[in-house]
Amino acid sequence: MTNRTFAMIKPDAVKNNLIGQIIAKFTEAGFKVKAMKMTRLTKESAQGFYEVHKERPFYNDLVEFMISGPVVALALEKENAVADYRKLIGSTDPAEAEEGTIRKLYAENKSENAVHGSDSDENAAIEIAHFFSRHELLNNYTV
Ligand code: RTP
Ligand code: MG
Repeated sequence: MTNRTFAMIKPDAVKNNLIGQIIAKFTEAGFKVKAMKMTRLTKESAQGFYEVHKERPFYNDLVEFMISGPVVALALEKENAVADYRKLIGSTDPAEAEEGTIRKLYAENKSENAVHGSDSDENAAIEIAHFFSRHELLNNYTV
């Protein structure tokens, strides 16, 4: 168990003006924001980020969705961060997500589901490094 995870507010939620509400959910749940940026993924970056899914039927649509508008990327810190964050966001499909979870509250459907979260400590480290330079993490975060 480590204390960090990587979070992203996806293009649908940015478009729906939900950045503030979603970050409030993170901080109300006890996460500290250690690094944050609003950015727009290039196709290459989105393909690399979701490379594990490249054989899946939804991969091309997923990449197109992820580059359709700006996103907000965050490095979050809390004890048991990966598991607690996944619990906070809920199931991939908002129709199956528990009441009160971020996806239940704000996701549109299984494809456009408001937020991303790392699924393991190892991937959290990889994803944080994908978005943030050492300099951006320096003094805020122990890399
Ligand atoms: P994420 O990686 O974005 O946090 O989501 P997740 O772990 O809950 O779900 P994952 O299986 O890793 O899928 C990554 C993203 O691909 C899109 N997706 N669409 N249409 C579909 O059947 C489908 N399945 C997955 C979603 O945007 C999902 O979050
Ligand atoms: Mg995933």
